[in-house]
Amino acid sequence: MYVGKKITVSVIKADVGGWPGHHKVHPALMERAKELLSMAKEKGTLIDFYVTYCGDDLQLIMTHTKGVDSEEIHGLAWDTFKEATEVAKELGLYGAGQDLLKDAFSGNIRGMGPGIAEMEITLRKSEPIVTFHMDKTEPGAFNLPIFRMFGDPFNTAGLVIDPHMHMGFRFEVWDIKEHKKVILNSPEELYDILALIGAKSRYVIKHVFPKEGHRISKDEPVAVISTEKLYEIAGEYVGKDDPVAIVRAQSGLPALGEVLEPFAFPHLVSGWMRGSHNGPIIPVPLKYATPSRFDGPPRVVALGWQINRDGKLIGPVDLFDDVAFDDARRKALEIADYMRRHGPFEPHRLPMEEMEYTTLPGILKRLADRFKQL
Ligand code: F6R
Ligand code: MG
Ligand code: MG
Repeated sequence: MYVGKKITVSVIKADVGGWPGHHKVHPALMERAKELLSMAKEKGTLIDFYVTYCGDDLQLIMTHTKGVDSEEIHGLAWDTFKEATEVAKELGLYGAGQDLLKDAFSGNIRGMGPGIAEMEITLRKSEPIVTFHMDKTEPGAFNLPIFRMFGDPFNTAGLVIDPHMHMGFRFEVWDIKEHKKVILNSPEELYDILALIGAKSRYVIKHVFPKEGHRISKDEPVAVISTEKLYEIAGEYVGKDDPVAIVRAQSGLPALGEVLEPFAFPHLVSGWMRGSHNGPIIPVPLKYATPSRFDGPPRVVALGWQINRDGKLIGPVDLFDDVAFDDARRKALEIADYMRRHGPFEPHRLPMEEMEYTTLPGILKRLADRFKQL
């Protein structure tokens, strides 16, 4: 019985090999991961787990009581990715082990390549959560939808009409270049929040917290987003971030439908081909979490869960597997066509400083003596 007690939900993901190219995860990798996490569950390290994929990213969803940043849980995820890498090597999959940037695990998986979203929560009597999994994009892709869920009254009716959430929420925003963070209050500092998070390649929402007076303690996250930037970690291109998030819903928090509503608008995100292009993010069911056209367009999957009193993950429900998102998908495909017609031109191609691949320094060097002063 964990109701009223602390429990941790961890989503840890890595690309340890694509099938074929950067397309999707081979089922054998998921099988290997399930075997290892089953053993951990038998040993009592995990309460429950689920293994899935989004594009070429292997996704581990786990409940346990070890708290966030636990050496045991991160070590387990690391070993699981290592083992899955071995399977990927045997199958000759593409980019086997590409997100495992260090040789040895040293206590915490942060900064080692995989993406992590985890939160320690006091389990409510009924705990609905959604885990979001994106492929072919960056952590800042969550800024707009998370802001809409917790800060935008045109998205979340509850901000206006539910007395339990009328006070608003607190946004923890990270400056991923300067490695700093700030907590801002919504709605009081709405314009400051937007001034930062609109610059989504630099400022990313890491957590959302309730305010004083909410049913949930003000220091307990109600949303968390992975913010690892592989490019920053490795100092050179090694693949995109392909972020994940966990969002709690209902009962003084955005309703399930308010959590999903932002994705009815397929907003533009960076990533897509070679991590160097802007394109729309398509909300898809798992069966379509398979980036194909121009290595994309970027995808997002939403899995719905109830965590029961024993900490078990009751789910997943494949939440975008619904006709209500058909129009967003159609629109996304139309936008994808429109963006593609720009070919190598901005704003389809990212600005120079954000591209993950570039030939420009070489070209400039070669042309150096042909450039004349204006
Ligand atoms: C990687 C990705 C892909 C690759 C592209 C080229 O996550 O999204 O678009 O950047 O397929 O990959 P390489 O250089 O490995 O041939
Ligand atoms: Mg890949
Ligand atoms: Mg990926």
